[in-house]
Amino acid sequence: MKVMIIGSGGREHTIAWKLSKSPQVEKLYCAPGNGGIAEIAECVDIGVMEFDRQVAFARENGIDLTIVAMDDPLVGGAVDAFEAAGLTAFGPRANAAILEGSKAFSKDLMKKYQIPTAGYESFTDIETAREYVKTCKLPVVLKADGLALGKGVLICQTREEAMEAVRTIMEDKQFGAAGNCMVAEEFLTGREVSVLAFVDGSTIKIMSSAQDHKRAKDKDQGLNTGGMGTFSPSPFYTREIDEICRREIYQPTVDAMRAEGRPFQGVLFFGLMLTDDGPKVLEYNARFGDPEAQVILPRMKNDLVDVCLACINGTLHQIDLQFEENAAVCVVLASDGYPVHYEKGFVIQGLETVKAREDDGYYAFHAGTKQSGDNIVTNGGRVLGMTAKGKTLKEARANAYEAAGWISFANKYMRHDIGKAIDEAEKRSE
Ligand code: AMP
Ligand code: GLY
Repeated sequence: MKVMIIGSGGREHTIAWKLSKSPQVEKLYCAPGNGGIAEIAECVDIGVMEFDRQVAFARENGIDLTIVAMDDPLVGGAVDAFEAAGLTAFGPRANAAILEGSKAFSKDLMKKYQIPTAGYESFTDIETAREYVKTCKLPVVLKADGLALGKGVLICQTREEAMEAVRTIMEDKQFGAAGNCMVAEEFLTGREVSVLAFVDGSTIKIMSSAQDHKRAKDKDQGLNTGGMGTFSPSPFYTREIDEICRREIYQPTVDAMRAEGRPFQGVLFFGLMLTDDGPKVLEYNARFGDPEAQVILPRMKNDLVDVCLACINGTLHQIDLQFEENAAVCVVLASDGYPVHYEKGFVIQGLETVKAREDDGYYAFHAGTKQSGDNIVTNGGRVLGMTAKGKTLKEARANAYEAAGWISFANKYMRHDIGKAIDEAEKRSE
């Protein structure tokens, strides 16, 4: 069959790579794709929000399945557009992707269905928001309601910071229309864990846990980024926590969405905080995480096409979802200066070395690259996700850093402490 992916980052390259292993896939397309994706798929110059052009292309080229991998098109109704044209697309419809698209929606849903999450208030009126932060408990977490590239969350320690944050979100509209509504949340402490799952509207099957590193610099310093590295599984996500989450969070979320007439079909990403009062939901995403996909999909044994079709057809209960009993770590190679100011266009060397070791579980998933003549050059802030598997997390981490060392390009930057929590977990269990 012919499969198309909508998106252009490291997550999309990982999805494309996984699909390229499926004996069912005869041809892969990606709109718009990147330099790495171009090696295994035909990249089509259509933007992620150009639904009409995507649908027309899918029709003309007989695409059997389109995987919408990014938040903006999902929330904007890409899957609805494909369905309206009688085409098959994987991902939640807009009325379910709202779980990621509106924090106020997701908080109200959790409250209504008693799914554990931080206490909150939502505001559409700036004066009411100001009154609230004058007396609320500190620290307080203020969030722009809508999509804001993961940047619309401000943790405020003082009242002055909170007043400033209200202005940033609701008056200056630094996150655009995402700030028309604002959620104020109780500040939670604990370990953060991401858990990814496939959902077919009724059945949910958990893939694996993972942990991201959002800050740009070592020791979690610097600005928030799209993610500087990940490891999977999380050693903090114990069997006991998993059982609580299955009972109180996962199935209840899927059931709640169905009860609201918004059945969720696709990948559901739970951002959890493991607090002393038990696991609580920080956020939902309606798609694979980036760079969580990079450490999860290489460990998945199933054919991704089978699982996507089962989610669409409501037959996920028939799938025996299986993962390798190992670990993976992804170290992001970025352009120095990311996420603020960085240069592009530098030739990347060493990719052949990684490719030669793919059978040993080494991968260079491209995030921001493009083909330029005979070379692959840097074309973004995050450039490559150097990913490696290992029997243990420690081994995977050593392998990922080894692979990171095989690559060179001007202004190459990476964090050196991806997976530091692995050592902390080990110490704790001694
Ligand atoms: P979100 O996009 O809602 O996941 O928020 C981004 C990041 O802000 C999370 O990964 C957490 O590190 C932090 N965060 C969000 N909500 C809270 C909260 N209620 N308490 C503490 N930290 C939070
Ligand atoms: N890595 C977090 C996300 O994809 O939202």
